[in-house]
Amino acid sequence: MSQIKAYRAALLHCLADPREVGIEASHEYFEDGLLVVEDGKVVRNGHAADLLSTLPAGTEVIEYKDALITPGFIDTHIHYPQTGMIASYGEQLLDWLDTYTFPTERAFSDKTHAGEVAQVFLRELLRNGTTTALVFGSVHKESVDAFFEQAHKLDLRMIAGKVLMDRNAPDYLTDTAESGYTDSKELIERWHGKGRLHYAVTPRFAPTSTPEQLTAAGKLFKEYPDLYMHTHLSENRQEIEWVRELFPERKGYLDVYDHHGLIGARSVFAHGVHLCDDECKRLGETGSAVAFCPTSNLFLGSGLFDLEKVEGFGVRVGLGTDVGAGTSFSQLQSLNEAYKVMQLQGKKLDPFKSLYLATLGGARALYLDDRIGSLQPGKDADFVVLDYKATPLIEYRLKQASSLEERLFALMTLGDDRAVKETYAAGVSVHRKA
Ligand code: GUN
Ligand code: ZN
Repeated sequence: MSQIKAYRAALLHCLADPREVGIEASHEYFEDGLLVVEDGKVVRNGHAADLLSTLPAGTEVIEYKDALITPGFIDTHIHYPQTGMIASYGEQLLDWLDTYTFPTERAFSDKTHAGEVAQVFLRELLRNGTTTALVFGSVHKESVDAFFEQAHKLDLRMIAGKVLMDRNAPDYLTDTAESGYTDSKELIERWHGKGRLHYAVTPRFAPTSTPEQLTAAGKLFKEYPDLYMHTHLSENRQEIEWVRELFPERKGYLDVYDHHGLIGARSVFAHGVHLCDDECKRLGETGSAVAFCPTSNLFLGSGLFDLEKVEGFGVRVGLGTDVGAGTSFSQLQSLNEAYKVMQLQGKKLDPFKSLYLATLGGARALYLDDRIGSLQPGKDADFVVLDYKATPLIEYRLKQASSLEERLFALMTLGDDRAVKETYAAGVSVHRKA
């Protein structure tokens, strides 16, 4: 039986990229808004005064005071096996992988362990208002089964994949070109398109795959409709030099992926901190996406992502936390750091652009903007209720604010999981702050 529910609060969502249409036309805001949801989808949004009288008799209206409803946040790059090693001290990328990451990922051959971590991970995403994420598993197929089982129980829109790596990693963490292909195929058959789940072919990064494995990954990427390809690209200077040594016949890092058929719509490359113009151009013309991971890039000392340059070439850009190199599950905190990354380059990041990156921009990067990323009728009812009184300081600061822009910016700068009052996925409450 269909069930209609309505949610009354301030409503804010993006309609387009501020870069393309300007700030004013990029979003829609209802000070006293109403979001009407039926069977897990948004059916209407607008002013409460216009919509309340149109609701069928007896419709439950849930009212939130001092709150702002936005679309659920979208995290375009994160590693669930790294949940327990977040905030590990002192290394840059390659040493960080050897010292912390590989030993931590070893334990994910055990499905029970993987399931326990997946539960912690998903709870943390939802506590932070993130309703969709593009997620790395470990090399073990059990890790992806465990993750999808938990995500499916909650009916979340999630994308994940088994890591492919057949060289330059400890023996206990490598597959082969052949087994990586077969295991991925098995997972695709089991999970891709089941409920709201999607599969991503996931070579870790060029240095940990042989050309044979990258060829197999490219083959797989083409074999199924709407599959994703998820990897890392140009994050760290030492890494880039290593790729040059391993693939001397290729023009550069991106060309390694390009040569193996791993570029195009639904290809998502994490980081892209040190891309040259030709690489940005190629990413743009092929409809590929880059995940901007500010907390991670700062934490590992990787560098400052040039958002304006990359977007200038027409590349789709989403926001990623990249936990465990990233230091927070909160996309509000990612935006706080993104603003500082821009400031360090003498650039600005408007709060409406920030909201776009965390919602509709992420959905566009993932080619899911027909389903998520805004509160438009027909979209999945994945939304967040943000609390204007989350902490004494946020409450005090917002009292001084005289515009929506100012309130939004202060909330992004000061907010984290404490600012998330409730999270809904497909119209169902999946987290409520105690
Ligand atoms: N490059 C290859 N593997 C990883 C990883 O796990 N995290 C990050 N940040 N970069 C990587
Ligand atoms: Zn990563």
